Amino acid sequence: MTGTASSIRFPEGFLWGTASCGYMTEGGITTDNWYSWMMEDQKLPPEKRAFAEPVGQACDYWNRFDEDHKLAHDLGVQVHRMSVEWSRVEPEQGKYDMAAVEHYGKILDSLHAHGVKTMLTLNHFIIPAWVEALGGYLNREVFIRNYREYVRLIVETLGDKVDYWLPINEPFVVPAVCYLVGMWPPYKKGMINYANAYRTMMEMHGNSYQVIKRRHPAAPVGVAFAWNYMRPYRDRNLLDHFGAWFNNRGANEVFFDAYESGRLTFPIGFGQRIDCMKDALDFIGVNYYTPYFCKGRQAFPSRPGEHVTDRETTYWPEGMYRVLKRLADRFDTPMIVTETGVATNDEPFRIQFITEHLKAVHRATVEGANVKGFMYWSLTDNWEWNYGFKMRFGLIHIDYETQKRTIKESGTWYAQVIKNNGFEI
Ligand code: BGC
Repeated sequence: MTGTASSIRFPEGFLWGTASCGYMTEGGITTDNWYSWMMEDQKLPPEKRAFAEPVGQACDYWNRFDEDHKLAHDLGVQVHRMSVEWSRVEPEQGKYDMAAVEHYGKILDSLHAHGVKTMLTLNHFIIPAWVEALGGYLNREVFIRNYREYVRLIVETLGDKVDYWLPINEPFVVPAVCYLVGMWPPYKKGMINYANAYRTMMEMHGNSYQVIKRRHPAAPVGVAFAWNYMRPYRDRNLLDHFGAWFNNRGANEVFFDAYESGRLTFPIGFGQRIDCMKDALDFIGVNYYTPYFCKGRQAFPSRPGEHVTDRETTYWPEGMYRVLKRLADRFDTPMIVTETGVATNDEPFRIQFITEHLKAVHRATVEGANVKGFMYWSLTDNWEWNYGFKMRFGLIHIDYETQKRTIKESGTWYAQVIKNNGFEI
């Protein structure tokens, strides 16, 4: 690790990458648990809709992946994170679409052909509609039985093409957004549902870890963990401090308790065993975007006076440093930043955002955090869940009328960072 007052340099071998997800980019998926909700939602008057617009053809990555990978190569990207979509692979229970699996194989091959390593997410929020109809995350035994089979298929067919594995994206987010806040399908609100869904996510992770390791013992398997750093909304309010503590336990620490001890801990459990989670991480992928401000137990992604981004999160790079430090205090496990990024049309701000977050990573590393890489979210603009296409996270601009790709100023800048393994301040 080097660096002077005016330059930041990362260690040799530091892995530079970009991240994305199938559902948000591929286009054309209709067999998932969101599709019918989104279609129904569009019948409502605009002000009542939960989704700005349906995902539709998205970035047409399903057909244009090679063009995107070529651009990734031009930027010098060394590893790219993508996902396979369970609903595409198994549109009906037990009926696998092997042509789709083969197509995913071509996508992975194309990355390698462009000299880019592959990091594969097996579940990024979305599940097949038939799984939802069977009770989704709340029908754990059935869910896990089916998920294992899907993972087994992917491992057997595509396993040789994968350099890094992420069985699930953000284990806390689906439980929180679908089951606690009730903002995403299936809108089943309740603390008990939250705890149950979180446990399912952990079992998805733990089971997948075993399936992957059995076939590829040396393959690094991690998690992309969104650590939402909890802060009190009002700095001098005891209730808010308690809320931040409680939410941090319920959102973040519980996952890592299970990793450490193989047990569910408060507030999602009381010591029950979850053996599959014990030691089931070769690396910790950190996704960090924003702090949450807790008013009692209610958490908000911003508060008056904060620098709020287009995506309504708070720009606070210090959080990246704190999350990495917290994890480094608990574990020696290597870490990779598997996501951070910003939705903006202001390119100098995107560059500032990445610069400040990289400085935070560097600072944590200088203080001993074992961070092996950094992946920007996202390679290209894409469809952002409730917010639709107007959120532009990409280093590469997409004109959705023509699907034309254009490298942005931040893309050119990021290419220089990769080339120099750092930057001048
Ligand atoms: C998710 C992405 C999302 C990003 C920005 C992350 O939590 O993994 O799917 O686009 O946040 O909101």
